[in-house]
Amino acid sequence: MTASFTMNSHLGKRILALVRQGNYAHAGEEEAIDMALAGLAKDPHRSLLDAGCGRGGTAHYIQEHGWGKVTGVDIEPESVREAKHAYPGIRFEAGDIMDLGQRYAGYFDAVTMFNVLYAIPRHQHALSALAEAARPGAALMIFDYEDPGSYGAHAIMEGSAAFLPNPMAAGAIGGDLEAAGWSQTGHRDITEAYIRWYRHLVDRIVERRAEIEEIAQAEGYQRVLGLYSQLLDVLSAGHLQGAILSAERRA
Ligand SMILES: C[S@@+](CC[C@H](N)C(=O)[O-])C[C@H]1O[C@@H](n2cnc3c(N)ncnc32)[C@H](O)[C@@H]1O
Repeated sequence: MTASFTMNSHLGKRILALVRQGNYAHAGEEEAIDMALAGLAKDPHRSLLDAGCGRGGTAHYIQEHGWGKVTGVDIEPESVREAKHAYPGIRFEAGDIMDLGQRYAGYFDAVTMFNVLYAIPRHQHALSALAEAARPGAALMIFDYEDPGSYGAHAIMEGSAAFLPNPMAAGAIGGDLEAAGWSQTGHRDITEAYIRWYRHLVDRIVERRAEIEEIAQAEGYQRVLGLYSQLLDVLSAGHLQGAILSAERRA
């Protein structure tokens, strides 16, 4: 059974939560959230969408630290169920980002996405749906992998599927944002931090081997270790970057 899990499945995120000691499935955990939201003034009354919220740790951290009243949405129902159970003070919903425009037209004051866009095939389509769900002037923060142009030749595979199917293309994401109704306001290269975070993550995977094997067997452990070791190599070689993008919803 474990042979077929992917890191974005419920079991994959459970392993990551165990290794990271928190309900996070993005690089850098809480340090990354503070880094990504450093430019967003705190306002507990802001309606903030955490799109692709996973197990809810990020939504909880954002709300607890005063950036807004958070709604977390994720396409994977089991993670949403666990998020609701773990953080009853936060609104979580199962759903596809692509449908949020209809459900929440003009509602959100801010949108965050932590390592989500890489999992979505049509970036412009997703960004348009988020623009529809946001009010004019709303802030968007995207924290994700960015392909400088050479990742395709070094792509990491999870069996027959791509581990990171659609990292942001450095030359295209600005145009996707513009076409979707957002004006880009910032871009920060955080590759050095990604390398440091993934080095630490690989060490933690090795340290927690016994616990990972308990839920995913020896094969699952080897799989997780192999994937994140490869990711560290690809980042260190400069074929993949980490980036924080900010944008504002045009009127
Ligand atoms: C790497 S995890 C990150 C989770 C969370 N943002 C965090 O930092 O812990 C990517 C998440 O995106 C979700 N996702 C992928 N495509 C989605 C879509 N079209 N709509 C909503 N969620 C999606 C996955 O289910 C997964 O939970």
